[in-house]
Amino acid sequence: MDNEDVGRYWDENAENWTKLVRMGYDRYRNLVNSPAFFKMLPEVLNLEGLDIGCGEGYNTKITAKLGAKVTAIDISKVFIQYANQSEEKEPLGIKYQVASGTNLPFSNDHFDFAIATMSLMDMADNEKAIQEAYRVIKSGGFFQFSILHPCFADPDHEWVRNEEGKKIGFVVKNYFKKHNGELEEWIFGAAPKEITEKMKNFIVPRFSRTLSEWLNLLIENGFILERFCEPYTDDEILKKFPEGYEAWVIPWFLIIRCRKP
Ligand SMILES: C[S@@+](CC[C@H](N)C(=O)[O-])C[C@H]1O[C@@H](n2cnc3c(N)ncnc32)[C@H](O)[C@@H]1O
Repeated sequence: MDNEDVGRYWDENAENWTKLVRMGYDRYRNLVNSPAFFKMLPEVLNLEGLDIGCGEGYNTKITAKLGAKVTAIDISKVFIQYANQSEEKEPLGIKYQVASGTNLPFSNDHFDFAIATMSLMDMADNEKAIQEAYRVIKSGGFFQFSILHPCFADPDHEWVRNEEGKKIGFVVKNYFKKHNGELEEWIFGAAPKEITEKMKNFIVPRFSRTLSEWLNLLIENGFILERFCEPYTDDEILKKFPEGYEAWVIPWFLIIRCRKP
C-alpha cells in the first residue's frame, strides 16, 4: 500500500472524523494526548513551523495560537478542505496544503520546527517522512511528534479484567509483528451510538515499528533525541474523563522530541 492508497482511506474517513472530533468525541486527543504534547512543546512564539499530517487542524490551531507562523500539510484533500473552512471562520494565518509527509514541497532548512501529531504511524514509508522532516528543518530546529505507543499498539491485545469487569491489566501478544498497511476498523467509543450507528466505521491503514526501530530511525537519520513523554490520565483528567482510566493502566501514546544538530 502506498501513500496515495492511504490518502484515499483518509479521504473516506475525513467527513465523519471531522464531525465527531469537532463535537469533542476524540477525548483521548483533547484531554490526554494534546495537553501533554503542548506542555512538552518548547516556546514557538514567532517561529515558523510545519504540522505534518494535520488532519482537520485541531493541533495546528493550538500551535498557531501559541504564536507560531504555521504551515500544515495532509495527504487527505477532504481533511484540508475542512481545515481551510475552519481557517476562513477563525483566521489564524495558517497555510494548509495537500501534500505527503514523504515528499514535502518545501526547500531544505526552511522551518524552525516541525510537529506531527498521531500521523507518522499512519504513513506508508515513515522512514522517508522522518528524512523529509529532517531536511526541511533548520539546523538547531526541533521535531516533536506523537504516535500510538509502539509497545501497546498491538491490534491483538487483550484486557485483563477484575470481577466487576474493570480493566486491570493488558496482554500484549504480538509486539514484533509487522503491520505494513493492515487495515484497522473502529470509531470513537465516546460518541453516542445514535450518532455513530448512522456512520461507517473509520478504516485506518497501520504501519507499525517497534520502540527501538523508531528511536534508531531518528538517530540513523541525524536527529539528536531530546525528550520523551507517555501521557496518562491523572486525577484531574479522570474527573472529566472517567472512562480514560485505562490510560493509567498502560500508556496509549508516546511523544518524542528530537533536534537537528
Ligand atoms: C490520526 S490522524 C491525526 C490528525 C491530526 N494530526 C490530529 O492529531 O488530529 C492521521 C493523519 O495522518 C494523515 N496522513 C496519513 N499519511 C500521510 C502522509 N503520507 N502525508 C501526510 N499526511 C498523512 C491522515 O490523512 C490523517 O489526517
